Amino acid sequence: MAAQAPTMAVPTDAQLIQAQAGLWRHSLCHLTAIALRCAVQLGALASPEEGIYSLVPLSYLLVDGVFIDGEASQKAIVLATTSRHYIEVTLGLADWFKKDIAPPPSPFEDVHGATLFEESMALLDPESDKVFHEALAAHDHLGIGTILRECHDLFKGVQSLTDCFGGDGTTARAIFKAFPHIKCNVLDLPRVIEKVPSDGIVNYVASDLFHTIPPAQAVMLKV
Ligand SMILES: C[S@@+](CC[C@H](N)C(=O)[O-])C[C@H]1O[C@@H](n2cnc3c(N)ncnc32)[C@H](O)[C@@H]1O
Repeated sequence: MAAQAPTMAVPTDAQLIQAQAGLWRHSLCHLTAIALRCAVQLGALASPEEGIYSLVPLSYLLVDGVFIDGEASQKAIVLATTSRHYIEVTLGLADWFKKDIAPPPSPFEDVHGATLFEESMALLDPESDKVFHEALAAHDHLGIGTILRECHDLFKGVQSLTDCFGGDGTTARAIFKAFPHIKCNVLDLPRVIEKVPSDGIVNYVASDLFHTIPPAQAVMLKV
């Protein structure tokens, strides 16, 4: 007996209209990100005039001079994630999936021949490399204050902690400030650690996470 072709239920008219609207939404949703990028580039977000209008929390993060535990602007994140480099990576994803290389390069490396946060990126495009680092610093700075306020109990009883992928130690220093009894190690790659001035607050360890992790009661991975 011949195998039967799988049958597909034909959507109703109402489903078709919904489906078409959904398709347009998915196809165009990148414009939301690009509109946000335009607003940041044009400096279109400003402190509100009192009593006339107010900022929603998202806009609050994009206004110059807003302080939450220090300078809190997240503009660099918008500029980094909507940058030409990021968008070109997404356009190359279909080709990347078809590649048969082991181990596979990251999609970013595959398209640009450079790795984010490494020397190769700085050589490829110093301006963009600077924006990517600013975005990382903005992310690092904002998150930890909230974690310390909202998840205070997480650190209860902890005497020592190693922050893997700890970068320049922003997170570990904030933890130490809130819990001065916690002995903090910051682990990152040598090229990152060698640029961080020693501060006498946390112990900076230059190493590869996959080779050594300084012993501590707790290990933190925050990305
Ligand atoms: C996304 S960033 C760090 C994010 C930071 N913890 C935060 O919360 O914002 C990733 C960091 O991991 C570091 N890194 C990448 N591979 C590593 C490895 N194999 N060993 C140690 N650090 C590594 C990078 O140098 C970079 O500083």
